[in-house]
Amino acid sequence: MPKRCISGRNGPRAAWPAAVLALVGACGLGAEGTLPEGTRVAPGKPLTDHRGYRLLVDKAYLPPDFDQETFDRVWEQWPADLRQAAAQASPQRRRQMAFERYGLTGRPDNPDQPLQYVVDPQGQWTMNCLACHGGSVPDGRGGRVVWPGAPNSRYALQTLTEETRLVKVGLRKPFSRMDLGSVFIPLGATHGTTNAVMFGVALMALRDPDLNLRRDRSLPAMTHHDMDAPPWWHLKRKTKLYIDGFAARGHRPLMQFLLVPQNGPEKFRAWEAEFRDVLDYLLSIPSPRYPYPIDRDRADRGRIAFQRVCAECHGTYGQGGVYPQRHVPLDEVGTDPVRFHALTAAHRSAYAQSWFADYGRAETVLEPSGYVAPPLDGVWASAPYFHNGSVPTLWHVLFPDQRPAVWRRVEGDDDYDPQRVGLRIEVAETIPPEIRDPWQRRAWFDTRLSGKSAAGHRFAEAISEEERWAVLEYLKTL
Ligand code: HEC
Ligand code: HEC
Repeated sequence: MPKRCISGRNGPRAAWPAAVLALVGACGLGAEGTLPEGTRVAPGKPLTDHRGYRLLVDKAYLPPDFDQETFDRVWEQWPADLRQAAAQASPQRRRQMAFERYGLTGRPDNPDQPLQYVVDPQGQWTMNCLACHGGSVPDGRGGRVVWPGAPNSRYALQTLTEETRLVKVGLRKPFSRMDLGSVFIPLGATHGTTNAVMFGVALMALRDPDLNLRRDRSLPAMTHHDMDAPPWWHLKRKTKLYIDGFAARGHRPLMQFLLVPQNGPEKFRAWEAEFRDVLDYLLSIPSPRYPYPIDRDRADRGRIAFQRVCAECHGTYGQGGVYPQRHVPLDEVGTDPVRFHALTAAHRSAYAQSWFADYGRAETVLEPSGYVAPPLDGVWASAPYFHNGSVPTLWHVLFPDQRPAVWRRVEGDDDYDPQRVGLRIEVAETIPPEIRDPWQRRAWFDTRLSGKSAAGHRFAEAISEEERWAVLEYLKTL
């Protein structure tokens, strides 16, 4: 008898106990998903000697964003108090202040160089994938450890672009693609989230299926919205990419980020082999382990409740764990719908017919029913939550009525809340109107703005408050 998948629009709605899930899970994915032969998963920390990692941090695939002189003088554009502090600081401390302001970190293998930009010997800075996908995770001692593949929840792309542009005006330096692009497309309204999906839509509209540039095309209609990048350590569990799971996993989809007009179709073919290594690197990244004490008895009780109400969508963990990669209809999950509608069937089918999806040979889901429930490995370390980064802690995921309307994380590295599991935050009625500094305004997350809603996903209401605290404890163990 053929086994049924728990997935898709008509998937069973009732709670599935883990045993049943494991039985029917033949079309779900094991804990390690479907790894290509030869892929090794790094124990402990992400590898820094992997060829894929070296390519990401050493090779500039895009034209540069700004040069060293521009970055060294960017503090001159800061608000008065910060500018004064920077003027009196050593050049090294000034650089550190700039790293903090824009959400940049040193590399694990070379703390003097930024993880998020490639800096070449001529001092040209070029954004890389780790700008959005290279963040840090709490170290358990009130600090953070850099973790390639963790979402960069502090990346301040909009502010960095605006402030380096002002330096360039003063120094009469040419503008970059980001300077010009940001005139038409907002880059990100809140630190740590970007309008990345719409960058892709805009750039793809300029290409034919073979990725030749079509100069006749104008920008398509776009719904701008910000997303929080997903952690790369989930990728080994998945065969489909993105929150709506529309694209098949492969090395080509990763290359969409390289679609700037300066990269012609021949570059994509030439770089394809390198992106096989990049994908292999992404699949090797382990999820970080929770570094604080865990109440094991409570976590055990939490596992039972989790298997009753959460596992049908999020899967099971540990030995023999199964991940169903389940599409959940939008009205069932109820989280912010803007991202879902922003990517239209026309965008998806242009993608499906292109080189990225091997001209239709890689399976593309043209009309997904909703969002895919993500794996929850390492979920303690990837706050804020939901695809738009609207919910600051796991406790707020589990207690929907407590979610703040307007919040910001506290400043500094000691910003982790091990009680509620996520970001330590301040809340407000509204973004204080007296705040003028755009950086300060973008530190606040206002869930009442378009694409930023923290509504929905009220599944934890099916269990008691005590059970929810137990589930919170259990989530620390994943
Ligand atoms: C400007 C920020 C940004 C940059 C730069 C960026 N990404 Fe992403 N990436 C995102 C966002 C946001 C998403 C989520 C998109 C979605 O789900 O619709 C994403 C999704 C992904 C996914 C799918 C993950 C999943 O679990 O479904 C992969 C893989 C990925 N990016 C790899 C890369 C690689 C490789 C690069 C560089 C070549 C890159 N990204 C550059 C922001 C970025
Ligand atoms: C009916 C399916 C379904 C059930 C049941 C469900 N979830 Fe989810 N969950 C989802 C979907 C879909 C998302 C993605 C929503 C989004 O990002 O907009 C999600 C997102 C999450 C996230 C955020 C992950 C991240 O990285 O941002 C957490 C945490 C989570 N769920 C925990 C739970 C827990 C705990 C339970 C049980 C109390 C549960 N879920 C029950 C479908 C489900």
